[in-house]
Amino acid sequence: MRYTQEYTTLVAKDELAAGIYRFCLKAPAISRLAVAGQFVQVLVEGKQLRRPISLAGIDKQAETITIIFEIRGEGTDRMAKFVVGDTVDLVGPLGNGFPLPDAKHPVLIGGGIGNPPLLPLAEHYGNAATVISGFRTASAAILQEEFAATGATAVLCTDDGTAGFAGFTTQALEAHLATNPCDLICACGPMPMMSRLADIAEKNGILCYLSLEERMGCGFGACVGCAVDIRDENGNIKRKKVCTDGPVFLSKEVVR
Ligand SMILES: Cc1cc2nc3c(=O)[nH]c(=O)nc-3n(C[C@H](O)[C@H](O)[C@H](O)COP(=O)(O)OP(=O)(O)OC[C@H]3O[C@@H](n4cnc5c(N)ncnc54)[C@H](O)[C@@H]3O)c2cc1C
Ligand code: FES
Repeated sequence: MRYTQEYTTLVAKDELAAGIYRFCLKAPAISRLAVAGQFVQVLVEGKQLRRPISLAGIDKQAETITIIFEIRGEGTDRMAKFVVGDTVDLVGPLGNGFPLPDAKHPVLIGGGIGNPPLLPLAEHYGNAATVISGFRTASAAILQEEFAATGATAVLCTDDGTAGFAGFTTQALEAHLATNPCDLICACGPMPMMSRLADIAEKNGILCYLSLEERMGCGFGACVGCAVDIRDENGNIKRKKVCTDGPVFLSKEVVR
């Protein structure tokens, strides 16, 4: 894993929905190394530990990266106060990223703030991909135009039925599988959603990768703060670090 510490510049900022911000950062070194599914650690004034945020865009030509985050606590609240032109201290790119296997009919599934890391994947698979995005309600829905712009078929789901498919992403996936082929599932979102997706993938014999979220300290393998149980191919349980062995794991490796 190659990563670096870089003083990046915030070149564009917008609020996609209430409390959800998108930053475009000039980051020549990090953008050069980055792949889909990796993350950066953001330094926030007054906080010793950096905050992990996934890459929602990598533009190697423009030497920029995009991150999208939701205000959850003090750290992300302070991040939301950055203004265009500010220097943002990042460490990255971190983690293993999605492996991008050949797939004719990939389905990418995001729950809430788990959607942004799927954008670089949608760009990779283009019109072969179906993106199923779930949100609590219509006003919290983000990135539908961006997913459609990649050529992917974008399926919006809301828990309360205020927009798109009324129900969970897992139900939309089951409806999709009833009439469409699928040879790959990649997902990021809350654990109950990913656990159910793993069951559906297993039942249908579909290769499935899950991007896990765990509270992190260092982000690069030194503190063991992010260790989770992972099942190896012989069924043995081992402790693995989400920051360096993940965050992306095969669904059958994830102990639920
Ligand atoms: C690999 C990875 C990628 C992530 N990508 C994104 C992303 O693209 N966009 C986004 O909005 N968020 C993402 N997160 C979650 C984000 O890191 C946390 O929301 C953030 O660190 C909270 O910091 P805070 O200071 O605002 O909140 P705190 O005051 O520290 O905590 C507020 C809440 O956030 C939870 N939290 C704190 N730290 C983490 C953490 N490291 N992981 C998960 N939950 C945490 C706490 O349990 C608490 O409920 C990611 C987390 C990981 C591990
Ligand atoms: S966060 Fe320190 S080892 Fe993973």
